[in-house]
Amino acid sequence: MEEYVVDLQGLKDLARKLAQNLRGDEVIALVGDLGAGKTTFVRFLVEALGPQEGTVVRSPTFAVLNEYQTQKGPVYHADLYRVKNFDFTDYIGSGILLVEWADLDPSLKPDIVIRFRHEDENLRRVKIEKRG
Ligand SMILES: Nc1ncnc2c1ncn2[C@@H]1O[C@H](COP(=O)(O)OP(=O)(O)OP(=O)(O)O)[C@@H](O)[C@H]1O
Ligand SMILES: [Mg+2]
Repeated sequence: MEEYVVDLQGLKDLARKLAQNLRGDEVIALVGDLGAGKTTFVRFLVEALGPQEGTVVRSPTFAVLNEYQTQKGPVYHADLYRVKNFDFTDYIGSGILLVEWADLDPSLKPDIVIRFRHEDENLRRVKIEKRG
């Protein structure tokens, strides 16, 4: 378990470090309150993975799942806040799967769990837990 308190630049640095260590097929759970920084982290991670030109990372709250192309292969970005029973079968193992509000689906078995907490307006406490 790694634990940090970071501002936006610090979060970007964490995302870059994680990006370098990903194989390209991990399931990553993003857990934390509204505005804690989950989507922001995905944006920094995708930027660090070498996205296809024109890629825009947005909250997938309405689309449920967004797909981005990067130099490490596809990145799938989902959000379970509204739809809690999304079927991830087709996505697991075929790219990097990032799931916001992943704690709402207990059947999801993440390789990495990242927890975000408000420390103050511009600081977040980030815990990164690598499993199995
Ligand atoms: N250190 C920080 N880390 C992350 N976000 C920060 C930080 N400081 C300020 N912010 C701001 O906090 C907001 C985080 O919003 P974001 O959409 O990433 O949250 P979220 O966890 O995805 O929320 P939701 O559950 O609604 O999807 C952004 O506006 C971001 O700029
Ligand atoms: Mg979000």
